[in-house]
Amino acid sequence: MSSHGDPIPMTSRPCGPLTGHAEVPGDKSISHRSLILGAMAVGETRITGLLEGQDVLDTARAMRAFGAEVTDHGGGSWSVHGVGVGGFAEPETVIDCGNSGTGVRLIMGAMATSPITATFTGDASLNGRPMARVTDPLALFGCQTVGREGGRLPMTLVGAADPLPVRYVVPVPSAQVKSAVLLAGLNAPGETVVIEQEATRDHTERMLAGFGAQISTELTDEGRVITLKGQPELSPQVIDVPRDPSSAAFPVCAALIVPGSDVLVPGIGLNPTRAGLFTTLREMGADLTYENPREEGGEPVADLRARFSPDMKGIEVPPARAASMIDEYPVLSVVASFAAGVTHMGGVKELRVKESDRIDAMAVGLRANGITVDEGPDWWAVTGLGHGNVAGGATCASHLDHRIAMSFLILGMAANAPVSVDDGGPIATSFPIFEGLMGALGADLVRASA
Ligand code: S3P
Repeated sequence: MSSHGDPIPMTSRPCGPLTGHAEVPGDKSISHRSLILGAMAVGETRITGLLEGQDVLDTARAMRAFGAEVTDHGGGSWSVHGVGVGGFAEPETVIDCGNSGTGVRLIMGAMATSPITATFTGDASLNGRPMARVTDPLALFGCQTVGREGGRLPMTLVGAADPLPVRYVVPVPSAQVKSAVLLAGLNAPGETVVIEQEATRDHTERMLAGFGAQISTELTDEGRVITLKGQPELSPQVIDVPRDPSSAAFPVCAALIVPGSDVLVPGIGLNPTRAGLFTTLREMGADLTYENPREEGGEPVADLRARFSPDMKGIEVPPARAASMIDEYPVLSVVASFAAGVTHMGGVKELRVKESDRIDAMAVGLRANGITVDEGPDWWAVTGLGHGNVAGGATCASHLDHRIAMSFLILGMAANAPVSVDDGGPIATSFPIFEGLMGALGADLVRASA
Protein backbone atom coordinates (compact mmCIF):
# COMPACT_ATOMS: atom_id res chain seq x y z
CA MET A 1 0.00 0.00 0.00
CA SER A 2 1.32 3.43 -0.82
CA SER A 3 0.09 6.80 0.37
CA HIS A 4 1.36 8.40 -2.84
CA GLY A 5 0.14 5.97 -5.50
CA ASP A 6 -3.19 5.28 -7.16
CA PRO A 7 -6.20 4.92 -4.83
CA ILE A 8 -6.70 1.42 -3.43
CA PRO A 9 -10.44 0.79 -2.95
CA MET A 10 -11.06 -1.72 -0.17
CA THR A 11 -14.08 -3.55 1.20
CA SER A 12 -14.64 -5.13 4.60
CA ARG A 13 -17.34 -7.79 4.75
CA PRO A 14 -19.15 -8.96 7.89
CA CYS A 15 -16.97 -11.70 9.38
CA GLY A 16 -16.96 -14.51 11.91
CA PRO A 17 -15.22 -14.27 15.31
CA LEU A 18 -11.82 -12.55 15.42
CA THR A 19 -9.36 -14.63 17.39
CA GLY A 20 -5.64 -14.89 18.04
CA HIS A 21 -2.70 -12.59 18.74
CA ALA A 22 -2.40 -9.22 17.07
CA GLU A 23 1.20 -8.00 17.11
CA VAL A 24 0.85 -4.38 16.07
CA PRO A 25 3.84 -2.33 14.88
CA GLY A 26 5.95 0.16 16.81
CA ASP A 27 4.64 3.43 18.17
CA LYS A 28 4.57 6.13 15.51
CA SER A 29 5.20 9.04 17.89
CA ILE A 30 8.15 7.31 19.54
CA SER A 31 9.55 6.16 16.17
CA HIS A 32 9.68 9.74 14.77
CA ARG A 33 11.32 10.99 17.96
CA SER A 34 13.90 8.15 18.02
CA LEU A 35 15.11 9.11 14.54
CA ILE A 36 15.13 12.86 15.17
CA LEU A 37 16.84 12.74 18.57
CA GLY A 38 19.20 10.07 17.26
CA ALA A 39 20.17 12.52 14.50
CA MET A 40 20.82 15.24 17.10
CA ALA A 41 23.01 13.05 19.34
CA VAL A 42 26.75 12.54 18.94
CA GLY A 43 27.40 8.92 17.92
CA GLU A 44 25.26 5.93 17.09
CA THR A 45 21.73 5.38 18.38
CA ARG A 46 20.36 1.88 17.84
CA ILE A 47 16.62 1.39 17.47
CA THR A 48 14.59 -1.82 17.43
CA GLY A 49 10.86 -2.11 16.78
CA LEU A 50 10.81 1.04 14.65
CA LEU A 51 7.50 1.56 12.85
CA GLU A 52 8.32 1.14 9.16
CA GLY A 53 5.25 3.06 8.02
CA GLN A 54 5.56 5.69 5.32
CA ASP A 55 5.36 8.59 7.80
CA VAL A 56 8.40 7.35 9.70
CA LEU A 57 10.29 6.38 6.53
CA ASP A 58 9.81 9.98 5.35
CA THR A 59 11.32 11.22 8.63
CA ALA A 60 14.28 8.82 8.19
CA ARG A 61 14.87 10.23 4.72
CA ALA A 62 14.66 13.78 6.07
CA MET A 63 17.25 13.03 8.77
CA ARG A 64 19.61 11.80 6.04
CA ALA A 65 19.02 15.05 4.14
CA PHE A 66 20.10 16.98 7.27
CA GLY A 67 23.36 14.98 7.40
CA ALA A 68 22.67 12.05 9.77
CA GLU A 69 23.61 8.54 8.70
CA VAL A 70 20.44 6.48 9.00
CA THR A 71 20.75 2.74 8.31
CA ASP A 72 18.02 0.12 8.00
CA HIS A 73 19.38 -3.21 9.31
CA GLY A 74 16.15 -5.09 8.53
CA GLY A 75 13.28 -6.33 10.71
CA GLY A 76 12.64 -3.00 12.42
CA SER A 77 16.27 -2.64 13.50
CA TRP A 78 17.82 0.73 12.58
CA SER A 79 20.79 2.85 13.52
CA VAL A 80 21.24 6.60 13.40
CA HIS A 81 24.67 8.18 13.45
CA GLY A 82 23.88 11.65 14.73
CA VAL A 83 25.54 14.97 13.93
CA GLY A 84 25.04 16.58 17.35
CA VAL A 85 22.83 19.46 18.50
CA GLY A 86 23.38 22.34 16.05
CA GLY A 87 25.15 20.04 13.60
CA PHE A 88 22.46 19.75 10.92
CA ALA A 89 23.70 20.31 7.35
CA GLU A 90 21.60 22.31 4.88
CA PRO A 91 19.50 19.88 2.81
CA GLU A 92 20.17 19.89 -0.94
CA THR A 93 16.57 19.16 -1.86
CA VAL A 94 13.05 19.86 -0.66
CA ILE A 95 12.06 17.85 2.43
CA ASP A 96 8.91 15.87 1.57
CA CYS A 97 7.18 14.72 4.76
CA GLY A 98 4.39 12.96 2.86
CA ASN A 99 1.29 12.67 5.05
CA SER A 100 2.97 13.32 8.39
CA GLY A 101 2.12 16.32 10.55
CA THR A 102 4.28 14.93 13.34
CA GLY A 103 7.24 14.48 11.00
CA VAL A 104 7.14 17.96 9.49
CA ARG A 105 6.38 19.85 12.70
CA LEU A 106 9.05 18.11 14.77
CA ILE A 107 11.68 18.43 12.04
CA MET A 108 10.89 22.14 11.62
CA GLY A 109 11.53 22.55 15.34
CA ALA A 110 14.74 20.55 15.19
CA MET A 111 16.24 22.73 12.39
CA ALA A 112 14.81 26.12 13.43
CA THR A 113 17.77 27.11 15.59
CA SER A 114 20.51 26.13 13.13
CA PRO A 115 21.81 28.60 10.50
CA ILE A 116 20.44 26.63 7.56
CA THR A 117 17.53 26.95 5.16
CA ALA A 118 15.11 24.14 4.35
CA THR A 119 11.95 23.88 2.29
CA PHE A 120 9.19 21.50 3.38
CA THR A 121 6.29 19.98 1.49
CA GLY A 122 3.88 17.06 1.79
CA ASP A 123 0.89 15.38 0.19
CA ALA A 124 -2.46 17.15 -0.42
CA SER A 125 -3.58 16.40 3.15
CA LEU A 126 -0.43 17.75 4.82
CA ASN A 127 -0.26 20.78 2.53
CA GLY A 128 -3.75 21.76 3.73
CA ARG A 129 -2.89 21.62 7.45
CA PRO A 130 -2.04 24.62 9.66
CA MET A 131 1.67 25.19 10.29
CA ALA A 132 1.50 28.63 11.96
CA ARG A 133 0.94 26.86 15.28
CA VAL A 134 4.58 25.75 14.94
CA THR A 135 6.17 28.58 12.95
CA ASP A 136 4.77 31.26 15.34
CA PRO A 137 6.74 29.96 18.35
CA LEU A 138 9.75 29.15 16.15
CA ALA A 139 9.81 32.85 15.09
CA LEU A 140 10.42 33.74 18.77
CA PHE A 141 13.74 31.85 18.53
CA GLY A 142 14.63 33.97 15.46
CA CYS A 143 13.57 31.50 12.74
CA GLN A 144 12.05 33.07 9.61
CA THR A 145 9.34 31.45 7.52
CA VAL A 146 7.88 31.96 4.08
CA GLY A 147 4.89 29.79 3.27
CA ARG A 148 1.60 29.76 1.44
CA GLU A 149 -1.47 31.68 2.47
CA GLY A 150 -2.86 30.58 5.85
CA GLY A 151 0.52 29.25 6.97
CA ARG A 152 0.38 26.20 4.72
CA LEU A 153 3.09 24.08 3.10
CA PRO A 154 5.14 24.21 0.92
CA MET A 155 7.12 26.43 3.23
CA THR A 156 10.72 27.55 3.63
CA LEU A 157 12.32 28.01 7.04
CA VAL A 158 15.49 30.05 7.55
CA GLY A 159 16.91 28.85 10.85
CA ALA A 160 18.11 31.34 13.45
CA ALA A 161 21.86 32.03 13.35
CA ASP A 162 21.82 33.46 16.91
CA PRO A 163 18.84 31.76 18.54
CA LEU A 164 17.26 33.13 21.69
CA PRO A 165 15.71 30.91 24.36
CA VAL A 166 11.93 31.09 24.53
CA ARG A 167 9.14 30.94 27.09
CA TYR A 168 6.01 29.77 25.34
CA VAL A 169 2.50 28.93 26.47
CA VAL A 170 1.13 26.41 23.95
CA PRO A 171 -2.29 27.78 22.90
CA VAL A 172 -3.72 24.48 21.61
CA PRO A 173 -3.40 21.04 23.20
CA SER A 174 -0.71 19.72 20.84
CA ALA A 175 2.25 17.49 21.54
CA GLN A 176 3.59 18.37 18.11
CA VAL A 177 3.76 22.08 18.96
CA LYS A 178 5.22 21.40 22.41
CA SER A 179 7.81 19.07 20.88
CA ALA A 180 8.76 21.47 18.09
CA VAL A 181 9.50 24.19 20.67
CA LEU A 182 11.51 21.81 22.86
CA LEU A 183 13.55 20.53 19.89
CA ALA A 184 14.25 24.12 18.82
CA GLY A 185 15.23 24.92 22.41
CA LEU A 186 17.97 22.30 22.21
CA ASN A 187 20.20 24.63 20.18
CA ALA A 188 19.29 27.87 21.97
CA PRO A 189 21.48 29.07 24.86
CA GLY A 190 19.91 29.25 28.32
CA GLU A 191 16.57 27.78 29.32
CA THR A 192 13.61 27.25 27.04
CA VAL A 193 10.32 26.94 28.90
CA VAL A 194 7.16 25.42 27.42
CA ILE A 195 3.87 25.59 29.29
CA GLU A 196 0.89 23.44 28.41
CA GLN A 197 -2.48 23.80 30.07
CA GLU A 198 -3.61 20.30 29.12
CA ALA A 199 -1.22 17.37 29.38
CA THR A 200 -0.42 15.95 25.94
CA ARG A 201 1.74 12.92 25.13
CA ASP A 202 5.08 13.31 26.87
CA HIS A 203 7.33 11.10 24.74
CA THR A 204 9.59 14.03 23.80
CA GLU A 205 10.21 14.96 27.43
CA ARG A 206 10.88 11.33 28.40
CA MET A 207 13.19 10.76 25.46
CA LEU A 208 15.11 14.03 25.89
CA ALA A 209 15.84 13.00 29.48
CA GLY A 210 16.94 9.57 28.21
CA PHE A 211 19.37 11.20 25.75
CA GLY A 212 20.89 13.15 28.66
CA ALA A 213 19.27 16.59 28.30
CA GLN A 214 18.47 18.53 31.47
CA ILE A 215 14.70 18.73 31.39
CA SER A 216 12.18 19.03 34.20
CA THR A 217 8.40 19.23 34.42
CA GLU A 218 6.57 21.04 37.18
CA LEU A 219 2.84 21.12 37.75
CA THR A 220 1.81 24.69 38.62
CA ASP A 221 -1.33 26.84 38.45
CA GLU A 222 -0.27 27.77 34.90
CA GLY A 223 -0.23 24.10 33.86
CA ARG A 224 2.67 21.78 33.06
CA VAL A 225 5.81 23.91 33.00
CA ILE A 226 8.59 22.15 31.10
CA THR A 227 12.08 23.60 31.38
CA LEU A 228 14.90 22.53 29.08
CA LYS A 229 18.52 23.60 29.39
CA GLY A 230 19.84 24.44 25.94
CA GLN A 231 22.92 23.26 24.07
CA PRO A 232 23.45 19.90 25.74
CA GLU A 233 25.52 17.15 24.17
CA LEU A 234 23.02 14.37 23.61
CA SER A 235 24.39 10.84 24.14
CA PRO A 236 23.29 8.12 21.74
CA GLN A 237 20.78 5.62 23.08
CA VAL A 238 19.55 2.07 22.61
CA ILE A 239 15.80 2.33 22.05
CA ASP A 240 13.25 -0.48 21.88
CA VAL A 241 10.09 1.15 20.54
CA PRO A 242 6.93 -0.14 22.28
CA ARG A 243 3.96 -1.18 20.16
CA ASP A 244 1.56 1.59 19.24
CA PRO A 245 -1.63 1.96 21.33
CA SER A 246 -3.16 3.94 18.47
CA SER A 247 -2.71 0.95 16.16
CA ALA A 248 -3.77 -1.51 18.90
CA ALA A 249 -7.04 0.41 18.99
CA PHE A 250 -8.15 -1.18 15.69
CA PRO A 251 -7.95 -4.90 16.56
CA VAL A 252 -9.19 -4.13 20.10
CA CYS A 253 -12.27 -2.26 18.85
CA ALA A 254 -12.92 -4.85 16.16
CA ALA A 255 -12.89 -7.65 18.76
CA LEU A 256 -15.38 -5.76 20.95
CA ILE A 257 -17.98 -5.51 18.16
CA VAL A 258 -17.58 -8.78 16.21
CA PRO A 259 -19.58 -11.61 17.86
CA GLY A 260 -17.53 -14.38 19.47
CA SER A 261 -14.20 -12.54 19.26
CA ASP A 262 -11.30 -12.95 21.70
CA VAL A 263 -8.09 -11.17 20.71
CA LEU A 264 -4.84 -10.62 22.59
CA VAL A 265 -2.80 -7.57 21.61
CA PRO A 266 0.57 -8.01 23.35
CA GLY A 267 3.08 -5.41 24.53
CA ILE A 268 1.10 -2.19 24.18
CA GLY A 269 2.48 1.07 25.56
CA LEU A 270 0.01 2.40 28.15
CA ASN A 271 1.60 5.76 28.87
CA PRO A 272 -1.27 7.62 30.60
CA THR A 273 -0.97 10.45 28.06
CA ARG A 274 -1.98 7.90 25.37
CA ALA A 275 -4.32 5.37 26.97
CA GLY A 276 -7.59 7.34 27.14
CA LEU A 277 -9.39 5.14 24.62
CA PHE A 278 -8.98 2.00 26.72
CA THR A 279 -10.33 3.75 29.84
CA THR A 280 -13.29 4.99 27.79
CA LEU A 281 -14.05 1.56 26.34
CA ARG A 282 -14.03 0.03 29.82
CA GLU A 283 -16.43 2.73 31.02
CA MET A 284 -18.73 1.76 28.14
CA GLY A 285 -18.76 -1.79 29.46
CA ALA A 286 -16.18 -3.34 27.14
CA ASP A 287 -14.65 -6.66 28.13
CA LEU A 288 -11.10 -5.33 27.88
CA THR A 289 -8.43 -6.38 30.34
CA TYR A 290 -4.78 -5.45 30.89
CA GLU A 291 -2.75 -8.62 31.32
CA ASN A 292 0.86 -8.92 32.50
CA PRO A 293 1.36 -5.21 33.26
CA ARG A 294 5.07 -4.24 33.28
CA GLU A 295 7.52 -1.43 32.51
CA GLU A 296 9.66 -1.42 29.36
CA GLY A 297 12.12 1.32 28.43
CA GLY A 298 10.57 3.76 30.91
CA GLU A 299 7.04 3.29 29.51
CA PRO A 300 4.20 1.27 31.13
CA VAL A 301 3.23 -1.70 28.97
CA ALA A 302 0.60 -4.49 29.15
CA ASP A 303 -1.01 -7.15 26.96
CA LEU A 304 -4.55 -6.11 26.03
CA ARG A 305 -7.26 -8.76 25.87
CA ALA A 306 -10.45 -7.75 24.10
CA ARG A 307 -13.56 -9.93 23.89
CA PHE A 308 -16.87 -9.45 22.16
CA SER A 309 -18.96 -7.09 24.30
CA PRO A 310 -22.62 -7.07 23.25
CA ASP A 311 -23.83 -4.89 26.13
CA MET A 312 -21.80 -1.70 25.76
CA LYS A 313 -23.52 1.60 26.58
CA GLY A 314 -23.02 5.09 25.20
CA ILE A 315 -21.28 7.48 27.59
CA GLU A 316 -20.18 11.10 27.90
CA VAL A 317 -16.44 11.03 27.16
CA PRO A 318 -14.82 13.62 29.46
CA PRO A 319 -13.34 16.52 27.43
CA ALA A 320 -10.33 16.50 29.79
CA ARG A 321 -9.47 13.08 28.38
CA ALA A 322 -9.36 14.25 24.76
CA ALA A 323 -5.61 14.73 24.43
CA SER A 324 -4.92 11.21 25.68
CA MET A 325 -7.05 9.62 22.94
CA ILE A 326 -7.10 12.27 20.23
CA ASP A 327 -6.24 9.83 17.41
CA GLU A 328 -8.73 7.23 18.62
CA TYR A 329 -12.03 9.13 18.25
CA PRO A 330 -12.69 7.82 14.73
CA VAL A 331 -12.58 4.18 15.81
CA LEU A 332 -14.37 4.99 19.08
CA SER A 333 -17.23 6.39 16.99
CA VAL A 334 -17.46 3.00 15.28
CA VAL A 335 -17.68 1.17 18.62
CA ALA A 336 -20.22 3.78 19.79
CA SER A 337 -22.41 2.85 16.80
CA PHE A 338 -22.78 -0.66 18.26
CA ALA A 339 -23.35 0.50 21.87
CA ALA A 340 -26.78 1.32 23.26
CA GLY A 341 -27.51 5.04 23.49
CA VAL A 342 -25.59 8.21 22.83
CA THR A 343 -21.82 8.61 23.08
CA HIS A 344 -21.02 12.32 23.41
CA MET A 345 -17.49 13.44 22.61
CA GLY A 346 -16.65 17.03 23.62
CA GLY A 347 -13.52 19.18 23.68
CA VAL A 348 -12.33 17.79 20.36
CA LYS A 349 -11.84 20.85 18.14
CA GLU A 350 -8.40 19.51 17.20
CA LEU A 351 -10.07 16.64 15.33
CA ARG A 352 -10.95 19.15 12.63
CA VAL A 353 -7.28 19.77 11.71
CA LYS A 354 -5.88 16.24 11.61
CA GLU A 355 -5.00 14.36 8.39
CA SER A 356 -8.63 15.18 7.56
CA ASP A 357 -11.48 16.92 9.38
CA ARG A 358 -12.10 13.73 11.31
CA ILE A 359 -15.49 14.73 12.74
CA ASP A 360 -16.80 15.53 9.28
CA ALA A 361 -15.21 12.49 7.62
CA MET A 362 -16.64 10.06 10.19
CA ALA A 363 -20.03 11.78 10.46
CA VAL A 364 -20.63 11.62 6.70
CA GLY A 365 -19.53 7.98 6.45
CA LEU A 366 -21.39 6.80 9.55
CA ARG A 367 -24.61 8.47 8.39
CA ALA A 368 -24.28 6.75 5.03
CA ASN A 369 -24.13 3.46 6.95
CA GLY A 370 -27.31 4.18 8.91
CA ILE A 371 -25.97 5.84 12.07
CA THR A 372 -27.20 9.15 13.50
CA VAL A 373 -24.39 11.60 14.20
CA ASP A 374 -24.81 15.14 15.56
CA GLU A 375 -21.95 17.61 15.61
CA GLY A 376 -20.81 21.08 16.59
CA PRO A 377 -17.51 22.92 16.13
CA ASP A 378 -15.80 21.06 18.99
CA TRP A 379 -18.07 18.13 19.78
CA TRP A 380 -19.94 15.28 18.19
CA ALA A 381 -22.36 12.62 19.34
CA VAL A 382 -23.08 9.17 17.95
CA THR A 383 -26.40 7.48 18.66
CA GLY A 384 -25.62 3.80 18.97
CA LEU A 385 -28.07 1.24 17.64
CA GLY A 386 -26.89 -1.71 19.72
CA HIS A 387 -25.34 -4.91 18.50
CA GLY A 388 -26.81 -6.37 15.29
CA ASN A 389 -28.58 -3.20 14.18
CA VAL A 390 -25.95 -1.32 12.16
CA ALA A 391 -26.87 -1.42 8.47
CA GLY A 392 -23.52 -0.82 6.74
CA GLY A 393 -23.54 -1.09 2.94
CA ALA A 394 -21.97 2.27 2.04
CA THR A 395 -18.72 3.36 0.43
CA CYS A 396 -16.89 5.97 2.51
CA ALA A 397 -14.27 8.54 1.58
CA SER A 398 -11.01 8.19 3.48
CA HIS A 399 -9.74 11.73 2.66
CA LEU A 400 -6.07 10.63 2.58
CA ASP A 401 -6.48 9.72 6.27
CA HIS A 402 -5.24 6.34 7.47
CA ARG A 403 -7.36 6.32 10.62
CA ILE A 404 -10.56 7.14 8.71
CA ALA A 405 -9.90 4.29 6.26
CA MET A 406 -9.18 1.75 9.02
CA SER A 407 -12.16 2.86 11.11
CA PHE A 408 -14.66 2.26 8.29
CA LEU A 409 -13.10 -1.12 7.51
CA ILE A 410 -13.60 -2.07 11.19
CA LEU A 411 -17.24 -0.94 10.88
CA GLY A 412 -17.74 -3.35 7.96
CA MET A 413 -16.61 -6.33 10.06
CA ALA A 414 -19.65 -6.06 12.36
CA ALA A 415 -22.27 -4.27 10.23
CA ASN A 416 -25.07 -6.15 8.47
CA ALA A 417 -23.66 -5.37 5.01
CA PRO A 418 -20.11 -4.75 3.70
CA VAL A 419 -18.50 -1.32 4.10
CA SER A 420 -16.05 0.03 1.52
CA VAL A 421 -13.50 2.83 1.47
CA ASP A 422 -12.48 4.66 -1.67
CA ASP A 423 -8.79 4.47 -0.77
CA GLY A 424 -7.02 2.22 1.71
CA GLY A 425 -3.60 3.41 0.52
CA PRO A 426 -3.05 5.87 3.41
CA ILE A 427 -3.17 2.95 5.90
CA ALA A 428 0.48 2.36 4.99
CA THR A 429 1.47 5.61 6.69
CA SER A 430 1.00 4.19 10.19
CA PHE A 431 -0.07 0.52 10.05
CA PRO A 432 1.39 -1.11 6.92
CA ILE A 433 0.49 -4.63 8.12
CA PHE A 434 -3.14 -3.79 8.96
CA GLU A 435 -4.66 -5.84 6.15
CA GLY A 436 -2.63 -9.00 6.84
CA LEU A 437 -2.94 -8.71 10.61
CA MET A 438 -6.72 -8.24 10.57
CA GLY A 439 -7.05 -10.99 7.95
CA ALA A 440 -5.10 -13.42 10.16
CA LEU A 441 -7.53 -12.70 13.02
CA GLY A 442 -10.46 -13.60 10.74
CA ALA A 443 -11.46 -10.33 9.07
CA ASP A 444 -12.71 -10.48 5.48
CA LEU A 445 -10.93 -7.59 3.72
CA VAL A 446 -10.58 -7.34 -0.04
CA ARG A 447 -8.97 -4.80 -2.30
CA ALA A 448 -11.94 -3.79 -4.39
CA SER A 449 -15.18 -1.91 -3.93
CA ALA A 450 -18.28 -3.85 -2.98
C1 S3P B 1 1.42 13.39 17.82
C2 S3P B 1 0.59 14.33 18.38
C3 S3P B 1 -0.84 14.46 18.04
C4 S3P B 1 -1.36 13.24 17.30
C5 S3P B 1 -0.41 12.77 16.25
C6 S3P B 1 0.93 12.40 16.86
C7 S3P B 1 2.82 13.36 18.21
O1 S3P B 1 -1.00 15.58 17.20
O2 S3P B 1 -2.61 13.52 16.74
O3 S3P B 1 -0.92 11.64 15.56
O4 S3P B 1 3.51 12.35 17.94
O5 S3P B 1 3.29 14.34 18.84
P1 S3P B 1 -1.20 17.07 17.78
O6 S3P B 1 0.06 17.53 18.36
O7 S3P B 1 -1.61 17.90 16.57
O8 S3P B 1 -2.32 16.95 18.78
